[in-house]
Amino acid sequence: MTEKKQTPSPEFSPLGFDEDIAPLPEYKAAGTTEVDFSGLLGEPLKLHEDLRSGCGGQLWPAGMVLAKHMLRYHREKLQSARILELGAGGGVVGLTVAKGCKNLKHPLYITDMVEMEPLMKYNISLNGLADRVRARILNWGEPLSQEVVDFKPDVILAADCVYLEAAFPLLMQTLKDLLELEPKATVYFCFKKRRRADMQFLKNARKAFTVTEIEDEDRPVFSRDNLFLYTFTRKDSGSSSSLSS
Ligand SMILES: C[S@@+](CC[C@H](N)C(=O)[O-])C[C@H]1O[C@@H](n2cnc3c(N)ncnc32)[C@H](O)[C@@H]1O
Repeated sequence: MTEKKQTPSPEFSPLGFDEDIAPLPEYKAAGTTEVDFSGLLGEPLKLHEDLRSGCGGQLWPAGMVLAKHMLRYHREKLQSARILELGAGGGVVGLTVAKGCKNLKHPLYITDMVEMEPLMKYNISLNGLADRVRARILNWGEPLSQEVVDFKPDVILAADCVYLEAAFPLLMQTLKDLLELEPKATVYFCFKKRRRADMQFLKNARKAFTVTEIEDEDRPVFSRDNLFLYTFTRKDSGSSSSLSS
């Protein structure tokens, strides 16, 4: 993964250990990072990071893994998908997809809590993606907005959204609502296990959805780092992924 730091900062290793109580990442100065995912993006994505708006203001490891996976394995089929990212933070996954898929048929939604809205919008304009990407507030556990209901996303992206135990039921509710709304939707879900409780989220997901560990040539590398990559689909959807042929 080629990454060029424009602002020097100490190496970020958020919660790179396995404890029951995991702290939030250390504060680091705001700055802009460029990523091209080992050349998969011709022109690098620029991401402004600023932790003042919340922990999503920083690039997280699962976001990098999921963004690269979507580019490497699904770029063509994503062009016609209706894509929505949950807990987008600065928007790494959604913006990577939007940058890598030049002919998206539908707008792509990156969503998070209100605190992250300015950073999502800033990163959209930093990359000239305002014609393709919309930043919206989507609080997990709350009813889906009419705009999302009308959009009926069929590809849902969620990276590093498992980190706060209190939010697990809220995130689970939103995933259920989205898969209820579009039974053929696929959730691409990447997370880093930091605490034992994180596996409880997965256990609950297995009860609610068909959970499939998906192929990725980088798996031997990222699994050493306790990163997991799955799809979630409805148990009765009859398909393991809306992007599979
Ligand atoms: C660890 S960050 C991951 C950011 C980004 N996906 C990445 O991989 O770099 C988790 C994100 O989830 C968002 N989040 C946490 N609780 C949420 C909730 N209840 N509703 C919506 N978003 C939430 C946070 O604001 C944050 O941006």
